[in-house]
Amino acid sequence: MLKGLDGAAQCGRASESACFFLKKRTKKLLSVCAATPGLLRGGVALSFVRQIHTGEQMAGIVEGKVVVVTGAGGGIGREIAVMMAGEGAKVVINDLGVSVTGDGGSATPAEQTRAIINQRGGEAVINTESVSSWNSARRIVQCALDTYGRIDGVVNNAGILRDVIFHKMTEDDWNAVINVHLSGAFYVSRAAAEHYRKQESGSFVHMSSTSGLIGNFGQANYSAAKLGITALSKSIALDMQRYNVRSNCISPFAWSRMTGSIPVNTPEQKARMEKIQQMTPDKNAPMAVFLTSDGAKAVSGQVFATRHNEIFLMSSSRPVRGVHHDGGWTPTEVGQIAIPALKGSFMPLDRSGEVFTWDPV
Ligand SMILES: NC(=O)c1ccc[n+]([C@@H]2O[C@H](COP(=O)([O-])OP(=O)(O)OC[C@H]3O[C@@H](n4cnc5c(N)ncnc54)[C@H](O)[C@@H]3O)[C@@H](O)[C@H]2O)c1
Repeated sequence: MLKGLDGAAQCGRASESACFFLKKRTKKLLSVCAATPGLLRGGVALSFVRQIHTGEQMAGIVEGKVVVVTGAGGGIGREIAVMMAGEGAKVVINDLGVSVTGDGGSATPAEQTRAIINQRGGEAVINTESVSSWNSARRIVQCALDTYGRIDGVVNNAGILRDVIFHKMTEDDWNAVINVHLSGAFYVSRAAAEHYRKQESGSFVHMSSTSGLIGNFGQANYSAAKLGITALSKSIALDMQRYNVRSNCISPFAWSRMTGSIPVNTPEQKARMEKIQQMTPDKNAPMAVFLTSDGAKAVSGQVFATRHNEIFLMSSSRPVRGVHHDGGWTPTEVGQIAIPALKGSFMPLDRSGEVFTWDPV
């Protein structure tokens, strides 16, 4: 089971996440590590030592589950795949290996993720199909069934950007982004749903964005896709509740190649960039792994945001204020009565950064 790990010396050097892998692996390795507890560092490592002394072997939070993570060749997806495996899941690492704009393609990013997982004793298989067509998405899900015999979780994380101001956005800019994010989430979810329905269980986690939930410049395609994903998720949660299937969204924050293109020309921008760089992609993984676990069985149809060490529950749309006119309205009366009555509660034309005004903590 353990690949590339050779006992206490490596165990002592292991990072926290590596120790997560170690603590639930073979008894042989546990006894090797138990003999050298002084080598272990950090909270996770110490709890590992405690488990050894009490003879308890803790299962991972998603032990035995089979989970597809799309776009797992880098950034947030890689961290989610690695943590899933660290918590006992068998992972399908799906990634096309494209550029931020969706060009090119390579198996190397997915292979690198698999190497990390295998090195830490986890199980994973690679799939390099695109999420953005009905048939290839079905093959991604089939890969889980062919390799591990079932599917329990999907994390729809794959994504690209084609940022451009709206009045210059081309049909191709629009379609490319909608196809990967919104249609891709639909295709992969739809393929998994057939199996979820039969087995009467399953989890979906979809990556949304504050660009859609709140707003951003030059991202009409991306924002529309990302807000659309929250409606897709809620619809799945409603339609598949009867089969114990759950569907939730995460709006992540991370320094990744997607955020790496933000211009840095002034000292203020440089200071802001340093703050953004603290938000490492791994900080988004615990929520995705928890939502895939049985511990989240009462959590469905929700949108969470994860930013460094912060977790937020995001709101859904609700009526803010109402006005009634006996006998109905004329257009003039809408302007004269309704709009002045509602105006005090108008939503501002704001952007994500104007709502998340404080530094990540
Ligand atoms: N980084 C952030 O701050 C942030 C903020 C909000 C939302 N998100 C969302 O989180 C997700 C991950 O973002 P990231 O920053 O890690 O990006 P990333 O560019 O590092 O990773 C995206 C991955 O998706 C893969 N991919 C692209 N098109 C694909 C396709 N058709 N099929 C399969 N794989 C494909 C790419 O090869 C890449 O490895 C995206 O959905 C993104 O929109 C990120």
